[in-house]
Amino acid sequence: MQPLITVILAAGAGTRMKSGTAKVLHKICGQTLLAYVVDAARKAGSSEIIAVIGHQADLVRESVKDVTFVLQEEQLGTGHAVMQARHLLEGKVGTVLVVCGDTPLITARTLKQAYETHLKDKNHVTVITARVSDPTGYGRIIRGRDGRIGSIVEHKDATEEQRAINEINSGIYFFEAPALLKALEGLGNANSQGEYYLTDTIGAILSDHGSAGAYLTHDSSEILGINDRFQLAEAERTMRDRIIHEHMKNGVTFILPETSVIGPNVEIGRDTVIYPGTLLEGGTKIGGRCVIGPYTRISDSVVCEDVYIMNSVVLESQIGSNSKVGPFAYLRPGSSIGNNVKIGDFVELKNSEIGDNTKVSHLAYIGDALVGKNVNMGCGVVVVNYDGSKKHRTVVGDYAFVGCNVNLVSPVEVKPHSYIAAGSTITEEVPEYSLAIARSRQTIISDWVKRKGFDKNNND
Ligand code: UD1
Ligand code: CA
Repeated sequence: MQPLITVILAAGAGTRMKSGTAKVLHKICGQTLLAYVVDAARKAGSSEIIAVIGHQADLVRESVKDVTFVLQEEQLGTGHAVMQARHLLEGKVGTVLVVCGDTPLITARTLKQAYETHLKDKNHVTVITARVSDPTGYGRIIRGRDGRIGSIVEHKDATEEQRAINEINSGIYFFEAPALLKALEGLGNANSQGEYYLTDTIGAILSDHGSAGAYLTHDSSEILGINDRFQLAEAERTMRDRIIHEHMKNGVTFILPETSVIGPNVEIGRDTVIYPGTLLEGGTKIGGRCVIGPYTRISDSVVCEDVYIMNSVVLESQIGSNSKVGPFAYLRPGSSIGNNVKIGDFVELKNSEIGDNTKVSHLAYIGDALVGKNVNMGCGVVVVNYDGSKKHRTVVGDYAFVGCNVNLVSPVEVKPHSYIAAGSTITEEVPEYSLAIARSRQTIISDWVKRKGFDKNNND
């Protein structure tokens, strides 16, 4: 097959979003609109991807990989945007896929099918179109008496009669490179918006005795262009359903699926149950037979099989199999917990390793610590990892028993098989098999209450 070069139009500000963020950097299901378009173009077989950028160019540049960028300093229209990539297309044979950066729902499958039709029909340009119930704002497809596409008229330039047409331009086109370059040469801006419309290339190609085709897609949800926050929410709904349905097909149960958001790159194993209000983000991988949620957020983390995570937040961490986390646990970046571990309610972990079979059951803070296997960290244990200027590391050996309300003042080491009495503040190494008590002794002052006259039963 001849090479397919993709040009993504992503320079616009997205005025109708009323946002400080460039439109293509807005996210659905945790991924930018632009990244979805780049992924679809790549999966459809693009050998090169060029993005035309303008608004917040630097941020847009950083947001995607393996893309060539061209700058459109002034946004004078979609045709003008493609003109900025002209020097990269000159002398090239093959097809140019032009797609707007604000249509994230387009799939590689539809792109491939349209591309095949484009090649089979030997068109100079093929436009992906759809019939929609509300065509407001979109360019309308004007077909001739022979039923073939004749031109595209923008909503703002359309007559009442043309506005009644419900076949719309998706903003996605396959052009033969030389035909595109030639059509761009004659493009003008004599229209209601004073813009260079890419849509005018259709008429130009036809006048030049070229052939134009329309590929009508039956799933109109794929070509939704996002111009405002309502369409952003609608696109998120569609994408969310699409992603969750895919997981369901693979054997994942969702309770109230409409309340969970799963990122496009998340993996979930079979027979895992996702409870309501769960957010799985970034490159998160969840093993089989887990129970996740309700109300849980897991970001860029790896969770092995048979894990329970309830009402918790897990960021950039790892959780071994058969472990239980939550309710109300907070695993901050860099935490790695082993197999069969319990991280209970109101436990915060940061940059810490917890060995197999260890329990941190309630109300604890473990920061910058290495905790071994089969350790019991009592209720209220705090690793005092910060001295006001630096962070220090604490090590707790295998089979250690750390009593309730113990402070481990870092850096300190608790050797294996040792015990620490409740309420101790540990500042020095605890040797193997020893008991450390670091608190003042209890004193009893007999009849102190009576002598002070504080006795509440005294009727005198
Ligand atoms: C465009 C089409 C319309 C189609 C619709 C599909 C034109 C003239 N109109 O309209 O027929 O139905 O998409 O969603 O092409 N952009 C630039 N530089 C510019 C202008 C736009 O890069 O100078 C980018 C935008 O960032 C955006 C995309 O092109 O990602 C589309 O621009 P937008 O203004 O949203 O076009 P629409 O009015 O939606
Ligand atoms: Ca648009």
